[in-house]
Amino acid sequence: METLTIALTKGRLAGQTMELFGRAGYPCEEVGGSSRKLIFENRDLALRFFLAKGPDVPTYVEYGAADAGVVGSDIIMEEGRRVHEVLDLGFGRCRMCVCGPKEAEELLRHHEMIRVATKYPNIAREYFYNRKHQTVDIIKLNGSVELGPIVKLSDVIVDIVETGGTLRENGLNVLEEICGLSARMIVNPVSMQMKTERIRELIMRVREQL
Ligand code: PRP
Repeated sequence: METLTIALTKGRLAGQTMELFGRAGYPCEEVGGSSRKLIFENRDLALRFFLAKGPDVPTYVEYGAADAGVVGSDIIMEEGRRVHEVLDLGFGRCRMCVCGPKEAEELLRHHEMIRVATKYPNIAREYFYNRKHQTVDIIKLNGSVELGPIVKLSDVIVDIVETGGTLRENGLNVLEEICGLSARMIVNPVSMQMKTERIRELIMRVREQL
């Protein structure tokens, strides 16, 4: 049987993904342990899983280094890779939002030239330029984006809101909602052709568990 390689997003999504894959008949005991190991195999089932940073998962899948992957829809939108999105896995639900202090509401309403800090420059650009027709200055950050408005780097942020806890603790609010997000399964287009049976079975068995 040809090996199926699956890229997983390190962190929050990995545990729920392996739980779902286990139920679907694709278990791999080692994944999610406390070691620093990045790659895990289930030789009996010809399965190989590896853990990557979210934004790299679509890259591995586009190049065929992984046949399939599980990643947040925020990252699929941001990265714009040539991969097939085949399933909404229903977990990792959150929202992409424009957030900031209450005062920034006016700036948004009047389409002022504002500064937007974000880990998602492409999503922010698409939203402000194409959907709102508002010219803004986008500043790319790599995390802890909530700092932006607090230290006056930016007027607002575009970021993920899950529980809202981070915003509350930093005195910020959701000002506009861009879209809903969740974990998705993606597949390499060539694997879809070359490993049709294995991929089809994977999608079908995972779907049955949703
Ligand atoms: C994400 C996101 C928010 C937070 C939202 O950050 O960027 O900061 O989670 O979750 P909440 O609404 O439940 O508080 P993450 O923890 O991934 O770290 P980062 O800020 O370093 O990117």
